[in-house]
Amino acid sequence: MRHHRIAAIPGDGIGPEVVTAALEVLAVLAARDGGFRLDVTSFGWGSDRYRRTGALMPADGVAQLRGFDAILFGAVGAPDVPDHVTLWGLRLAICQGLDQFANVRPTRILPGVQSPLRGIGPDALDWVIVRENSEGEYAGQGGRSHRGQPHEIATETAIFTRTGVERIMRFAFELARARPRRRLTVVTKSNAQRHGLVLWDEIAAEVARDVPEVSWDKMLVDAMTVRMTLHPQSIDTVVATNLHADILSDLAAALAGSIGIAPTANLDPTRRAPSMFEPIHGSAFDITGKGIANPVGTFWSAAMMLDHLGETAAAARLMAAVEGALADPACHTPDLGGTATTRAMTDAVIAGLGR
Ligand code: NAI
Ligand code: MG
Repeated sequence: MRHHRIAAIPGDGIGPEVVTAALEVLAVLAARDGGFRLDVTSFGWGSDRYRRTGALMPADGVAQLRGFDAILFGAVGAPDVPDHVTLWGLRLAICQGLDQFANVRPTRILPGVQSPLRGIGPDALDWVIVRENSEGEYAGQGGRSHRGQPHEIATETAIFTRTGVERIMRFAFELARARPRRRLTVVTKSNAQRHGLVLWDEIAAEVARDVPEVSWDKMLVDAMTVRMTLHPQSIDTVVATNLHADILSDLAAALAGSIGIAPTANLDPTRRAPSMFEPIHGSAFDITGKGIANPVGTFWSAAMMLDHLGETAAAARLMAAVEGALADPACHTPDLGGTATTRAMTDAVIAGLGR
């Protein structure tokens, strides 16, 4: 029996609703598989803890997580706590603390789901967006001086290091090579950002020489939004900076039908630290507690986690059950135009896991 130690961090808002649903599905999946067991430890970190103690997680939180094989994360963010406090206090603290430098965001139009793009069917959109997850615009460099004065100043400095850019380029080229179309688009903005993003382009070209099987092109981020919308078939694997990919992947999620479906993996490809899996959506205060959050983004993230843990058969089984449930409009939550609850979708996926 294979054992995997999972840290669950449900977090805020709908985070606990979707993580609870995913843990239930995972438990059934593991029991029916019979070959592996998930030992889950839940951490009550998030905005409630911040209100009680002044910190979203304990000072040694990152060290505590190192002992696990993977992390399943919900969402963080509350209406009464500034978003930069919650984001940096938990999610970014974990991603940067564990050096999970590759953020991987697959996008597909799953069966039964309607893209808002006219005339676009399931085969037209099959992307993986790779987001640089450790530096760039979210390196945390900068500061504020002369607060409240007319000459107040704030800086937000983007950091691009040869090490950081090269490792994400290698990861993206290798990922593109492993996919059937072997095609990579390097997103940039080197016309305006003439230092960091010129280095970015140069390193892309260097790495490309080592991976000749992959055909690649370069695209300015603004033009990329147009291409994603008008020519989605022309795209396969994409690599972009922390900020650019953050924005493009929300667009990708919307084009694939709903932000409630899209998954993410924050990977440490070196496997020195555990990787973290989460839906791309946030805590969604507007629907918290209503029981209608779409759990599919978390289910898909859980499938990516199983893949990462080497449980590829179980991962495929879970995705097949998710696709089976989505094919039935009666299982669709309101974000997909339906009236189903989180519970109903979860039950449908569990039923689809078979015996
Ligand atoms: P959001 O993703 O929470 O919500 C955007 C819209 O999508 C809302 O209308 C929401 O109801 C809907 N939505 C999101 N997930 C859904 C799901 N699973 N099922 C059905 N509908 C869903 O983004 P928003 O409103 O910009 O941010 C809310 C809070 O979440 C903020 O505090 C923000 O900082 C935080 N946030 C946290 C993230 C994370 O933990 N990784 C990511 C994005 C935002
Ligand atoms: Mg985002």
